[in-house]
Amino acid sequence: MQAENVESQQGFFHYRRNFDALKTLISIEGLRKTYRIGTQLVHALDGLDLAIDVNEYVALMGPSGSGKSTLMNVLGCLDSPTAGSYHLNGQNVANLDEDSLADIRNREIGFVFQTFNLLPRYSALENVALPLIYAGLSKRERIERAEEVLEMVGLQDRMVHKPNELSGGQRQRVAVARALVNRPSIILADEPTGNLDTATSMEIMNLFGEIQAAGNTVILVTHEEDIAECAQRIVRLRDGKVEPGNG
Ligand SMILES: Nc1ncnc2c1ncn2[C@@H]1O[C@H](COP(=O)(O)OP(=O)(O)O)[C@@H](O)[C@H]1O
Ligand SMILES: [Mg+2]
Repeated sequence: MQAENVESQQGFFHYRRNFDALKTLISIEGLRKTYRIGTQLVHALDGLDLAIDVNEYVALMGPSGSGKSTLMNVLGCLDSPTAGSYHLNGQNVANLDEDSLADIRNREIGFVFQTFNLLPRYSALENVALPLIYAGLSKRERIERAEEVLEMVGLQDRMVHKPNELSGGQRQRVAVARALVNRPSIILADEPTGNLDTATSMEIMNLFGEIQAAGNTVILVTHEEDIAECAQRIVRLRDGKVEPGNG
């Protein structure tokens, strides 16, 4: 009961303040991810150090192949590093097994992708409600929660539309709503504006700004400077490392 009250006082977006504000959320040291292609080793992450505080809004930049997506996958507990440590809210998650990673992922992390990744046969509402099936909520609760987040992203009058009946910006808003529906602490977005025009990109960036203002930590990848400027901090990667002065 108490937790519910705290939650509903946090403002526009519901989120769970599992992590204390003004605290290091992510602390990464000597992170390596090495892929083997035949006899060749590819060092996608090559001794990367990075710290991100609770409630930061960070843009990751860097040339193609510099390791941005690999880093996002590790940050999002989708993949484990080959070496190094990754402390998430004080816990080293670098060596956790699949189940433990999935658990953290489901509780704490919402993902947004460049290509939206919506299911074409499902309405906006159904797409957003889907992740809640695994949270064990009743159908009514799932629909209520999905309606609530779709309203937050400004799509209250598009709930029954299918993805192909929505604009690119609206599709990405649906995807953002889906990322928020589990009330995660961290939003990770890999080139979320890569398929959007400039004006729509700015709308989506403003939406991430609102999500951050409500207490979430937001980390996104972009290769456009003017998009990255919307974030509080820009971290630049090169050859699997953070460029000096950019940690
Ligand atoms: N699954 C994989 N298998 C082999 N090599 C990979 C794999 N994923 C990424 N890489 C390689 O790792 C490097 C970093 O890739 P990536 O993280 O996708 O970079 P970015 O997102 O910055 O473009 C690239 O050289 C890429 O070819
Ligand atoms: Mg990438």
